[in-house]
Amino acid sequence: MSFITSSVIIPAGGSGNRFGSKMPKQFTELVGIPIIIYTLKQFWICDNIIIASHPDWIEHLQSLVYEHSIPNVKAIVPGGKTRQESVYNALNQDVVKDSEVVLIHDAVRPFASKELIQSIMLSALEYGAAVPGLTPKDTIKQITKEYIINQTVDRNTLQMVQTPQGFRYKILRDAFEKAIENNFEGTDSSSLVEYLGHTIKVLEGEESNIKITTPLDKILSEFIINSK
Ligand code: C5P
Repeated sequence: MSFITSSVIIPAGGSGNRFGSKMPKQFTELVGIPIIIYTLKQFWICDNIIIASHPDWIEHLQSLVYEHSIPNVKAIVPGGKTRQESVYNALNQDVVKDSEVVLIHDAVRPFASKELIQSIMLSALEYGAAVPGLTPKDTIKQITKEYIINQTVDRNTLQMVQTPQGFRYKILRDAFEKAIENNFEGTDSSSLVEYLGHTIKVLEGEESNIKITTPLDKILSEFIINSK
């Protein structure tokens, strides 16, 4: 992939944790190794990795990166108040500005395959923006505030969107600038590109590309690692 210059931004600026321990969940260990280390290793094909970390955890993260020898981590920047601000801080790094394609990937998704990462990079170059998505398996209902069903939504028109999300640098930059100007806050970076009015291609995501959020996800992750 070296013919495309690429950076991946890993927003890890949150200090919250849903496993009940004091550490942010990206530092939780799976079979003795922190989740974020698995995640970083998947991106060996990218030229640069920029991590946005909560300031209290930068030193810890630096020592983990050193201990596990991950050569393409080029910077660890302080996270912002929101995920969006954390990504923006990383986007301002010089190495990112020089990249044709910028990927954004959740710190707690350690199983994105090399094939998925490469496909997202190529489609980001072709379409300007590309994200992985999966069609929901369950029937989806739209409800009222009182939890009464309004209607059934055709699930074939819906996608559960994952990361890595890929963008041409200029498009992502323009999207962030417009969002900042208009105080627009999205739950992922592709929402900002939608807001900019640019087309986003959806590629088929991976069922194993889970976002580790609950204790059950952690059990599943250790099962995935032990079956490799
Ligand atoms: O809370 P949630 O799981 O949606 O957070 C998604 C990601 O955004 C996490 O990796 C978290 O560390 C990151 N984040 C961030 N800066 C913040 C808040 C969250 O980078 N201020």
